[in-house]
Amino acid sequence: MLKKALENTLTSKESDELISAFDQIGDIIIMRIPDSLLSKKKIIGETLLNEVKVARSVFYQVSDVEGDFRTRNLEILAGEDNTETEYKEFGCKFLVDVENTFFSPRLSTERERIGNLVQDGEVMTNMFAGVGMFSIMAAKKKKCTVYSLDINPAASNLCVKNIELNKLAGKVISINGDASEIIKEQLVDKSDRTLMLLPERSDEFLESAITTTKNGGIIHYYSHIHADKKSEAGKLSEEHYLQVTPVQSKILSSKIVRAVGPRYYQTVVDVKISK
Ligand SMILES: C[S@@+](CC[C@H](N)C(=O)[O-])C[C@H]1O[C@@H](n2cnc3c(N)ncnc32)[C@H](O)[C@@H]1O
Repeated sequence: MLKKALENTLTSKESDELISAFDQIGDIIIMRIPDSLLSKKKIIGETLLNEVKVARSVFYQVSDVEGDFRTRNLEILAGEDNTETEYKEFGCKFLVDVENTFFSPRLSTERERIGNLVQDGEVMTNMFAGVGMFSIMAAKKKKCTVYSLDINPAASNLCVKNIELNKLAGKVISINGDASEIIKEQLVDKSDRTLMLLPERSDEFLESAITTTKNGGIIHYYSHIHADKKSEAGKLSEEHYLQVTPVQSKILSSKIVRAVGPRYYQTVVDVKISK
């Protein structure tokens, strides 16, 4: 569709380069534009706005995802300069702000996997919850309780709105602040399941994850791993976890969540801890 929309603006090779760098989130399109095409960014934006029926805004992603809040800078190319939109996934509705909060449509398979693992009656601590996507997807179907923590006030506020937007079987509690402080003060030995979706800093927060998890509970430990062979990434992340963990742990499974660079993967290791 994108290639067709741009056929009068770009050569076939140029639009191939753009396609891999295109995200549509609700009625917002975000493009990463190679340097060679930057001079055409406005016309690319305007063409997409005209051709993609549901698009309200087209943004150019100026920076990588960065900083404590894991956010990115965007520049408006065409349409309305509003970075908030509604996004739907597996029967849930989410208000997301694609510039001021973290959001990735590429984690949807992992959100579904975790949602299916959560059981009725469980307590989950979602340490780096963003706008609450994993929390809400889990509580949509299961009568669980989720503590949904995030240090970014904009993310915690949107999480509160998202709780109201969805009819939940369970309960989600949004708490703004540093996960390690909140856990120390309010959530010691609370959770049957703990999510650590800040893969760059998992080792730093592992002790807090263990603190909030009950004896016999499960931690989903995400990390970034270099692997020459894709098939080895899961095994390497298991070995890394076992090297850094201070508690007795039984590995339940591991897998690649998504590729984040050449021979570089985001992985998850599911572990049952004894303490
Ligand atoms: C990679 S995002 C994950 C967001 C969410 N789990 C999702 O999939 O949409 C990491 C989140 O961790 C938050 N964060 C960073 N440091 C934190 C801390 N010390 N305590 C709590 N949240 C933190 C960021 O604001 C960001 O929203």
